[in-house]
Amino acid sequence: MSRLRAERLYKVFGRRADQAVAQLEAGTDRDELRAQGTTAAVIDASFEVQEGHIFVVMGLSGSGKSTLLRMLNGLLEPTSGRVLFDGEDLTALRPRELRQVRAHKISMVFQHFALFPHRSVLENAAYGLEVQGVPREERERRATEALELAGLKGWEGSWPDELSGGMQQRVGLARALATDADLLLMDESFSALDPLIRRDMQDQLLQLQKTLHKTIVFITHDLNEAMRLGDRIAVMRDGRIVQTGTAEDILVRPATDYVASFIQDVDRSRVLTAGAIMRDAESGAPALADGGVPEGATTVTTGTPLAELFTPFATSEQPLVVTDASGAPVGVIDRERLLTALAEEPRVAPPAGARNGNEVSAHA
Ligand SMILES: Nc1ncnc2c1ncn2[C@@H]1O[C@H](COP(=O)(O)OP(=O)(O)O)[C@@H](O)[C@H]1O
Ligand SMILES: [Mg+2]
Repeated sequence: MSRLRAERLYKVFGRRADQAVAQLEAGTDRDELRAQGTTAAVIDASFEVQEGHIFVVMGLSGSGKSTLLRMLNGLLEPTSGRVLFDGEDLTALRPRELRQVRAHKISMVFQHFALFPHRSVLENAAYGLEVQGVPREERERRATEALELAGLKGWEGSWPDELSGGMQQRVGLARALATDADLLLMDESFSALDPLIRRDMQDQLLQLQKTLHKTIVFITHDLNEAMRLGDRIAVMRDGRIVQTGTAEDILVRPATDYVASFIQDVDRSRVLTAGAIMRDAESGAPALADGGVPEGATTVTTGTPLAELFTPFATSEQPLVVTDASGAPVGVIDRERLLTALAEEPRVAPPAGARNGNEVSAHA
């Protein structure tokens, strides 16, 4: 079910914003507007976020990510377009109603999370609830739970300056979790952290997500982070979303040269899975002819990253049999297929009309 929906969002800063939208729709270039002193920060952005999904918006600095995010919770009013949350048009709400939605349903976690230095960790985590007017006892109970979820059990009584940067960022996460908001908006929330701590936070978020099923929009300029976290990823460039898809979609079928250049440094062996490169029954996988798993064959599931396929091949020449979640064989991978898939240069996908959406191993 889609909980959040952005419909043709534009945000233009500067003079004659409305007119600029019409100009952009008519094909005027962003740089031309810039020369007139007008910044088109977000241009015609549309997407949907499913309940329980992490939707990542990825792009270089200045591509419009924060502006887009701020329109999603009404901190910025779109120049044009709509934001629907649970079917309700946020752009049509009165300021008072909007504040209500923001206080109860949407939480935001920023890159540099500002904690109140003279409040305890617990009070900091409970801050969102305080704003909502939740009584002290309840907010302390909920903040305690949220701190535990964020991995900070035992730190409730500490002061912010006793915490490392990573731990402070966890307090920010706890504050967002404590409010029970269904929609979390995270703007480069882990970007200021050291790589190891950052990975840790990513793991924690994925772990939390398994039980909490929040709907999350996560912003990052880091493609590897995007690929680890995103159920779906939107790639932004110069204010526009240039591609939306799963990590695998983007890696296997980059929509533009720009996206292709972006993904060059991605570790393909960790993002691509067995299911994406296997030969299936349609492409004549011989081992599947009789429908069963051949005796003695090693099996892997469709979701297994390619990095984990090397070990089986180290001990056997036999093709691997790929099974679905129920254990039924759905494809095979031989050693050559694995190596070609890893060596493949990402190629820009042909225009939509010419493309078969299911054809992952297009050259096979
Ligand atoms: N309040 C503002 N007034 C004018 N220009 C802005 C404002 N906020 C952002 N911009 C411009 O919009 C563009 C996108 O900015 P931003 O959304 O912050 O990008 P990102 O988060 O991807 O780094 C940039 O060119 C930025 O300078
Ligand atoms: Mg930003």
